[in-house]
Amino acid sequence: MAAGFSKVRTIAVTSGKGGVGKTNIATNLAMIFRRYKKRVLIVDLDLGLANVDVLLGFHAEYTLYDVIVGRKKVKDIILHGPDGIMIVPASSGIEELTHLNEIQKEQLLKGFSGLDEEVDIVIADTGAGISSNVLSFVLASNEILLVTTPEPTAITDAYAMIKVLSKRRKDLNIKLLVNFSCSREEAELTMNKITSVTRRFLDVNVEYYGYLLQDPNVPIAARLQKSFVKEYPNTIATSCLSNIASSFIKNDDVTLALGVEGYLRRIVDERIRTR
Ligand SMILES: Nc1ncnc2c1ncn2[C@@H]1O[C@H](COP(=O)(O)OP(=O)(O)O)[C@@H](O)[C@H]1O
Ligand SMILES: [Mg+2]
Repeated sequence: MAAGFSKVRTIAVTSGKGGVGKTNIATNLAMIFRRYKKRVLIVDLDLGLANVDVLLGFHAEYTLYDVIVGRKKVKDIILHGPDGIMIVPASSGIEELTHLNEIQKEQLLKGFSGLDEEVDIVIADTGAGISSNVLSFVLASNEILLVTTPEPTAITDAYAMIKVLSKRRKDLNIKLLVNFSCSREEAELTMNKITSVTRRFLDVNVEYYGYLLQDPNVPIAARLQKSFVKEYPNTIATSCLSNIASSFIKNDDVTLALGVEGYLRRIVDERIRTR
């Protein structure tokens, strides 16, 4: 294998509008990938409400911030969640992450470089919307899972997100997931509404990646601080998400792979370009 080449995939889960299910999707997708024996690292980059650690029933004592200020090493802040999922809690430290000097940057990246040997897939749970932080996390990854719902406001915000992303990078492959839909038909209609406009006005590849039906067991599992795919293996949301996970596994394109260090390097460098 050539030096610097890594087989680690990086998937950013993002959305235009908040509250569309990103954190639940990112965490539960990670749980399904474990069943394929993939080693998964979730980077929690959302300054949001339901953080990955909380959703899985534990609490991050340290975050990336402690690494940036030199108090902790990367291996000390990584949480080991259920089924061997690894989590980098980064939600505090995001501002700092975007203002590193060259030395801090190299130190941080060095801390992550060893992880490429221990990880197959990185899932970044990013915030919603087109703020420059969110954009840099999304643009740094090679695969983008854009979550929307059938609601008109979520559709317009998803379109706005696609538009901004497509202006920044030409080679984007955006995978669209429709969450909270009442039926397969409604999800397809939502997809068509978005692609009919992106095809006409934007030079970008948007691929329909599937849907998750609205399912009362999703918020119930969240309240129990358990993963819904584990707590409710036979519920409809689990079967929908399993289809999506299977598409990811089938389309394992190593040319898209970037690596943990590579991903973070792009984040800190992307800032410079998007500022
Ligand atoms: N398919 C679904 N069916 C029912 N509720 C869902 C579904 N997906 C997400 N939710 C609920 O929607 C809320 C927002 O989800 P969350 O993952 O926190 O969104 P985000 O990370 O995009 O802000 C949570 O209460 C979650 O339980
Ligand atoms: Mg969230």
